[in-house]
Amino acid sequence: MRRAAEHAEPNIAISPVTDTYIQRFSVPFEYPVFFTDGVFDPTNSTLVEALSRLESTRRHRALVIVDSGVADALPALIARIEAYATAHDSRLTLAAAPLVVPGGERTKNSPEVVSQLHEAIASAHLDRQSFVIIVGGGAVHDTAGYAAATAHRGVRVIRIPTTVEGQNDSGVGVKNGLNAYGAKNYLGTFAPPFAVINDISFIDTLPNRDRLSGIAEAVKVSLLRDENYFEWLWNQCDALTRFERAAMQHMIRRSAELHLEHIAGSGDPFEFGSAKPLDFGHWAAHKLEILSDYDLRHGEAVAIGIAIDARYSAEHGLLDEACVARICVLLERLGFTLWHPSASTRNGDGRRIVMDGLDEFREHLGGDLTLTLIDAIGSSVDTSGIDTVRMERAIDWLEYRAKAS
Ligand SMILES: NC(=O)c1ccc[n+]([C@@H]2O[C@H](COP(=O)([O-])OP(=O)(O)OC[C@H]3O[C@@H](n4cnc5c(N)ncnc54)[C@H](O)[C@@H]3O)[C@@H](O)[C@H]2O)c1
Ligand SMILES: [Zn+2]
Repeated sequence: MRRAAEHAEPNIAISPVTDTYIQRFSVPFEYPVFFTDGVFDPTNSTLVEALSRLESTRRHRALVIVDSGVADALPALIARIEAYATAHDSRLTLAAAPLVVPGGERTKNSPEVVSQLHEAIASAHLDRQSFVIIVGGGAVHDTAGYAAATAHRGVRVIRIPTTVEGQNDSGVGVKNGLNAYGAKNYLGTFAPPFAVINDISFIDTLPNRDRLSGIAEAVKVSLLRDENYFEWLWNQCDALTRFERAAMQHMIRRSAELHLEHIAGSGDPFEFGSAKPLDFGHWAAHKLEILSDYDLRHGEAVAIGIAIDARYSAEHGLLDEACVARICVLLERLGFTLWHPSASTRNGDGRRIVMDGLDEFREHLGGDLTLTLIDAIGSSVDTSGIDTVRMERAIDWLEYRAKAS
């Protein structure tokens, strides 16, 4: 038998200049994203496959967290989860009864929910190889993901997102977050999931307002990365407004693919740089969510944020006006309202309060303020030297446009 040290690569460099060891290692991350229909049908093996992907013979312990909105919409769900575990008891055992937590943004605003989740993880005696399986919208994923990431410094998480937003954007990514100190996602970690399972059937019970809200992220990612996908959204707009299954399924899958490609291909999955390339339109969106006291859904705020950043892209000389018009028309055809009264509120010196979102965005990332803007549909460009006067002009333009229509 060889000792572990004999296997180790010589990875400690010694600086020639100072008396310093430079520690260096890299850790590869990998997680599958499954697409399925009816994840808790006992004949569906996706969940046990996900649980067993590293240890195929073990009986895995799991705590299932369920969003109250999902539990209310599907009253038989808890019993179905328990029946699923019974049907697969050689591979899965529930460490406690499924725990229902409040759905929606209120859960991200509530330290009590995080405490309750930590307590549940502790009293179920989960260890670092046990699982937290999260079934719910983006807000419950952000909250339960944070609790799981901070218990034992990280318990494995299987995400089962139940909203459009969760399936096409947040659920397939690597972040969690809680709102604190007046800021969205002030607390949070980067914690790649163990696996993600996108089950299209959950979208059937989602209220139309939330179904639409998630489509804003599809428009966003098309603008950043794929002109053909933008054209597809344009052509399928009517089917999407009717939430037709085939169109919704393609929209979720293509957005998730682009999101995943971005995380893997950007070279900065944990956002160490000064830009947040997937956050086009989000500096304003996050501020508007707070200013509207969460009257705006995340995606509704993102649609307004996209219109602001698209218009600013034109004001900055990057994008032509015809593209800005097309982007706004697509968002409106889909059903978004590109204005909210909270964007009109001003502080004592007359500046729109939403503009504070730019400072908060910079403070979150550090470095110089850098926004990801677009120079064509499907092409993004990280931009520093943001002109706040022009930005406020872009918002004036959107307000004028909304009032004129
Ligand atoms: N971590 C990330 O990378 C990331 C990225 C984007 C967005 N987010 C966050 O995600 C949140 C928005 O997520 P969301 O759009 O999924 O909304 P949400 O989680 O607020 O859910 C919206 C509503 O739908 C209910 N619900 C969820 N699934 C349902 C279903 N299948 N049937 C019936 N009701 C259901 C919820 O209970 C809630 O009332 C925001 O907090 C946003 O900041 C996080
Ligand atoms: Zn978003």
